[in-house]
Amino acid sequence: MTDRRAHITGTGMYVPERVVTNEDLTKLMDTSDEWIQQRSGIRERRHVEPGEETPADLALHASRRALEDAGLGPGDIDCIVLATLSAQADFPGTSFFLHERLGVGDIPCMDLRAQCCGFLYSLQMADSLVRTGVYGRVLVVGCEVHSTGIELATRGRDVAVLFGDGAGAVVVEASDGAPKGSEILEIRLHAEGRHAKKLWVEYPNSCFPGRLTHELLDAGAIYPKMEGRFVFKHAVTRMPEVLLETLNAASVKLEDVDLFLFHQANLRINEFVAKSLEIPPEKVFNNIERYGNCSAASIPMLLAEATRQGRLAKGQLVAMTAFGSGFTWASGLVRW
Ligand code: ACO
Repeated sequence: MTDRRAHITGTGMYVPERVVTNEDLTKLMDTSDEWIQQRSGIRERRHVEPGEETPADLALHASRRALEDAGLGPGDIDCIVLATLSAQADFPGTSFFLHERLGVGDIPCMDLRAQCCGFLYSLQMADSLVRTGVYGRVLVVGCEVHSTGIELATRGRDVAVLFGDGAGAVVVEASDGAPKGSEILEIRLHAEGRHAKKLWVEYPNSCFPGRLTHELLDAGAIYPKMEGRFVFKHAVTRMPEVLLETLNAASVKLEDVDLFLFHQANLRINEFVAKSLEIPPEKVFNNIERYGNCSAASIPMLLAEATRQGRLAKGQLVAMTAFGSGFTWASGLVRW
């Protein structure tokens, strides 16, 4: 292995057509546009038409766009890594349904579970697989359908207003010497399992026979539970920490980064992180106001939108940082 590097050569994203505004949510629960915007920055999000669109559908559209952007077809990829916390089925997950829809022969595919950091975890895996020569091209997908797993009622309002559905994808390719796309420079990942229950879905679980009871179902135990303020505090500490660690490892100064893409959990978290590091607001690209929190899909969606809107140009440095359930936190640096 000499100077074999991994590059992002294509990006793509897809969101369902159905727009759900804050005003729409006020018809389902006791909330208000003002409360949601003040606390999270979200104005609207997308929801699938239940029973009509699957996670694999979303992933398929995003993947096709990323492949087209890379000038490739499904037959050109060697492996699929799909990050999600809202798997189409408990097993085998989502990636296998995408595999079928894309028509990629018998190449390997897998679901990776690292919640809101799932994309950066998957990108590190793709980077390693490509640089070590195991595969030449890996399709990395982040895909979430949250709308079918949140409680759209007052009882679930603290979480339900935050999440949206969407998918984003990138193609990671090897290059031997000559640059081929946007070079992955550094990725750093962390986790702290002792906080797993601060943001989680407890049921159904495999700790007892049957995994779910009617009583648990009635009690709403199948919906996400979050200690919001605890999550907030950890996010605004860990995100700057891992971002600086990543930049140091790449010998890049904070002021040399052209664009910052933070996981779209909450605009207030991102404003807090930017302020604490004295990052000018114009260097931070957000789209949470239109899509809400799409967890593993957030960062690849940002990459796809930033490139198409001309916010990310060739040669620029882009730093990505995320925090999520697990807890997990991660950061990546790419020379675009
Ligand atoms: N609409 C109206 N009122 C609400 C809503 C809602 N959707 N949700 C909660 N409330 C009420 C609460 O019941 C509470 O009422 P009370 O004072 O009568 O008890 C009041 O609003 C304040 O609730 P808090 O939970 O204290 O509100 P807080 O100011 O902490 O904001 C929030 C909640 C936005 C979730 C905040 O804690 C936060 O930003 N946390 C970060 C976590 C996050 O963003 N998670 C996203 C997923 S995780 C990830 O991707 C990293």
